[in-house]
Amino acid sequence: MKVNGEPVPAEPRPGQCLRTFLREQGWFGVKKGCDAGDCGACTVYVDGVPVHSCVYPAVRARGREVTTIEGLASNHGASGGHPVQAAFLAAQGFQCGFCTPGMIMTAAALPDDQRPDLPRALKGSICRCTGYGAIEDAVRGTARLIQNEGVTSPIGQPLGAPAGQAVVTGAARFTLDLAPESGPEAGPVPEEHLPPAPPLHLKLVRAPHAHAWIRSVDTSAALRVPGVVAVFTYADSPARKFSSARHANPDDDPYDTLVLDRTVRFHGQRIAAVVAETVAAAEAGCALVSVDYEVLPAVTSPAAALAAGAPQLHPDLAPGNVCAAVDRVSGDPDAGFAAADVVYEQTFRAQRVQHVALETHATVGWLDAHGRLVLRTATQVPFLTRDELCRVFGREQDQVRVIAKRVGGGFGGKQEMLTEDVVALAVLRTGRPVQLEFTREEQFTAATTRHPMEVTVKVGAAGDGTLTGFALDVTADTGAYGNHGPGVLYHAVEEAVTAYRCPHKRVRARAVYTNTVPAGAFRGYGLSQTVFAVESAVDELARLLGFNPAEFRRRNLLREGDRPDNASGEPGDVSTASLGTGECLDLVEKALASGRGAAAEGLEGWRTGTGIAVALLDTIPPGGHPGRAKVAERPGGGYHAFVGTAEFGNGTATVHRQLAADVLGCQPSDVLVLPSDTDRSGHDTGAYGSTGIVVAGTATVRAARALADAIAARAASGSSDGKLLEAEGFCDGLSRSVSAAVQGFRVAVCPGTGEVRILQSVQAVDAGTVLNPVQLRGQVEGGVAQALGAALFEEVRVSAAGVVTTRALREYHVPVLADVPRTEVLFCSSTADPYGPHGAKPMSEAPFNPVAPALANALRDATGVRFTSLPLRRDVVYCALNSSSL
Ligand code: FES
Ligand code: FES
Repeated sequence: MKVNGEPVPAEPRPGQCLRTFLREQGWFGVKKGCDAGDCGACTVYVDGVPVHSCVYPAVRARGREVTTIEGLASNHGASGGHPVQAAFLAAQGFQCGFCTPGMIMTAAALPDDQRPDLPRALKGSICRCTGYGAIEDAVRGTARLIQNEGVTSPIGQPLGAPAGQAVVTGAARFTLDLAPESGPEAGPVPEEHLPPAPPLHLKLVRAPHAHAWIRSVDTSAALRVPGVVAVFTYADSPARKFSSARHANPDDDPYDTLVLDRTVRFHGQRIAAVVAETVAAAEAGCALVSVDYEVLPAVTSPAAALAAGAPQLHPDLAPGNVCAAVDRVSGDPDAGFAAADVVYEQTFRAQRVQHVALETHATVGWLDAHGRLVLRTATQVPFLTRDELCRVFGREQDQVRVIAKRVGGGFGGKQEMLTEDVVALAVLRTGRPVQLEFTREEQFTAATTRHPMEVTVKVGAAGDGTLTGFALDVTADTGAYGNHGPGVLYHAVEEAVTAYRCPHKRVRARAVYTNTVPAGAFRGYGLSQTVFAVESAVDELARLLGFNPAEFRRRNLLREGDRPDNASGEPGDVSTASLGTGECLDLVEKALASGRGAAAEGLEGWRTGTGIAVALLDTIPPGGHPGRAKVAERPGGGYHAFVGTAEFGNGTATVHRQLAADVLGCQPSDVLVLPSDTDRSGHDTGAYGSTGIVVAGTATVRAARALADAIAARAASGSSDGKLLEAEGFCDGLSRSVSAAVQGFRVAVCPGTGEVRILQSVQAVDAGTVLNPVQLRGQVEGGVAQALGAALFEEVRVSAAGVVTTRALREYHVPVLADVPRTEVLFCSSTADPYGPHGAKPMSEAPFNPVAPALANALRDATGVRFTSLPLRRDVVYCALNSSSL
C-alpha cells in the first residue's frame, strides 16, 4: 500500500488492523480511542473513502492508497493546510485534541449534501471534551477566534491554543506517539522524551472473581510463549502499600493498594503482568497464566457491606468496610425543622459513570543512560506520581523522571496511578523499555469511575421562604479501594450544603468499601451527585411553599462576604471574597424568558417546562496546592515557560502564555509553554481541583515578573555577559475562593415515549475575570455535554456478582453531536477574584454539577413528576409518566 503517497515496504501481520499497522509505521495522527469502530478517532481514507481503521484489516489495504491526517493537506493539493484543518483552528474545534484528527478526516470527506445534517453525518465520531459546539462551528465554517488588531494586552482575548496547528495536522504527540516532534512548539529536549529502543508490551491478567484469595499462580506455560520475556505476580510486588489516588498530602487517601496483590477485591483487578515482545505474545501469555483461587463471599453494594457480619475488604484499615465518614452539626437541626412551615425529605441516587477520556490510560517507561527510571505517561499529576513511585520502589527523587506529553483528556481519571506502578516494576526488573496501554474495555472494568451515591436530603423552610433546617445523609460506594474515597466524600458534602444560608444544618456521610470496580476522582469531585439531590430537594421545597424556584434560591443563597460552612476562618482558607451566584441566576432566568432556543412547534401532546439549578465550587483543594513555574529567555528570542501542570485539554497552556506575555510585554506566540517534565520544571502539585490557572497560572505570572525585573536590571546596568536569564515563581495555593455555575433548561417531554428534547440550554458562570473567552466557553460547553450524558443515559452497570457489564462505548453511550444541544454560555461580570491571576477563578469542573438537577427540575416542571434517580433514560421517564397504566 501507499500511505500519504509513500510506498510502505512493511507487510501487515496476520489479523492486524489498519490502525495498528499505520501507527507502527509512524503515522501517529491515527489515534486509538476504542477497539471496535465506536469513536472515529482512527479515521483514515482508503482510496479516498473514510474508514474506521481499527476495524479495517490492514491486509485489505494492499495495493491501495491510504491517507491519514498527516497527508490530508497534500492530498487536497493545499500547501497551507486543508480548509477543514484551518476551520478547526479558527473555531478552536478541539480541547485535548485526541479526537481531532479523526474528526477532521470525517468532516473533510463529507459530501455537500450531508453537511446540513451534521448530527447524522458525525454520528460515528465521539469528542469527550468540547461538547461539539466548536466542532459544529468548525465544520460550518464559523470562526471563534477574532483578530484583535491593536490590542495591547493579551488578557481577556480570544486567543487560540498554542498547539492548535500541531493538533489539526496530527503532529501533536500524545503519550504513546513515540516519534520525535517538530515545529515551533516542540521544545528543547524532545529526544529525551523517547525510549532508547522499541518498548516491550505489558498486558494484565485480570481477576474473574469479585473477592478471592490467590492460593498459587503458575506462570510456566506463559513463559514458554515465544516472545514472552517475563511474568510478574504478587510474589514480585513491592511490599509497600499505596493509594492510586494522588494528592499533595499522600495521607489523604488510605494505603490499601499493592502493585500486585494476593487478595482479589474486585472483578477485573490485576493479578499478573505479562511482558512480551509484541501485544499478541503478551495476550497469549496472559491466557496461559494459571491461577488457583479460593473464592470468598463478596459484597457488591454499600448496604451489603455495612450489614452486620459482612465480609471485610480491608479489616485492618477499615473495620466495618467504612473507608471514611463525616458527622457534623451546626445549630439545632431538629429545632430548625420544627420551626419550618414545610419540610421536604427525599432520597436521591446518582449512578456510577466513567470519564471516557478518549485517550486511555497509558505509560511507557525505560531506564536512561544513567540508570534512572523514566516514565512518559498520561497523567494529570506527574510530580505526585514520581514521588509515590519513589516511595513504593525505594528510590530517590532524582532517580525517577516523569513526563506528561499532551494528555488526551483526564476529567479526574488521570489523577490516579493506574499504569505507572506496574510499568515501573517491569522496567526495573527487565531493564528494557516497556509500555502498557489500557484497552477501552479495561477503562470500563478496571479504571476508576464516579462514586455512586445515595443521598437523602431533608430541607425545611418558613412560609416567607427562609430555610430553617437542612440535613444531608450520604452513602458513597468507593468500590474495592479507597482512592479518593475520603476526599470525594468531604468535598461532596461541602459546597452542596454551603450553597445556602441556614442556621441549622446536619451532615452525615460515609464512603463504603464494596467488592466492585474502584471509584475515584471525577469532574466535580463528588458534587455532581450531591448537588443533584440538594438542588432537586430545594426546588421541590420552593414549589411546596408556592415560590418561584429561582426566587426561593435567591432568598437563601450564600452571598459575597458570607463565611462558608467549611471555612476555618484562618487567613488563606476558602472565602466568598467574590461570589456572583445571584448575577448568574439573573442571567439564566432572563435567557430562559427571552424566547431564545428552539420552539416547541410540531410537538403536539408533549409537555414543556423549565428548570434551573445552582452549583458552587471551592477553588483549589484545601490545605494548599504548591506550584512552581520557571520562565526563561530562549536562544534566538522569546521565552520558554516551564510549567509543571499538565495540559489535557483544559486550556491552561493557552492561558499561561497569555499571562506570561502580558507581564513580559511580548506577543503570546513568543512564549513557548513546555510539557510537564519533573526534570525540567519545579514541583507542581498537579492539574486537579481546577488549579491549572489559579495556582500554576499565578506561579507563571510571578516567574515572568521576576524575569522581567532581571531583564530590566540587566538593561539598567548596561552590561550583558550574553547569558540567558531565567526566573522562578511560586504559588502555595492557600488562598482560595468560590466559583459558581447556574444551569437552565427548557425541555419538552413526550408522554407517549418518554423522550426528552432540550429546547434551550443556558449556563451562566462566575469565573471572575475572563482571561480567554473562547477557552472558557469551550470548558463550559464541554462540561454541560459531559454532564448531559451522565444525566440522561450514561451508566457503568455492575451485576450483583460485581461484574461490569458495560464494557464498550456502544454499550455505554457517550453523547455524540446528535445528543447535545447548543448551550448558551454567559459570563458573570460583577466579580473579580482577589486571589487568582487578574481576578480569574477556575471553571473546569463547576459547569458539570448543576446540569442533572436543572434537567430534573425542568422535567418536574413539565410533568409534575419528581425524578429521584439518575440517569433519566427514556424508559425511566416513560414508566414514571405512565405508571398507572403499566
Ligand atoms: S479507534 Fe477506531 S473507531 Fe475508535
Ligand atoms: S478534544 Fe475531542 S476528545 Fe478531547
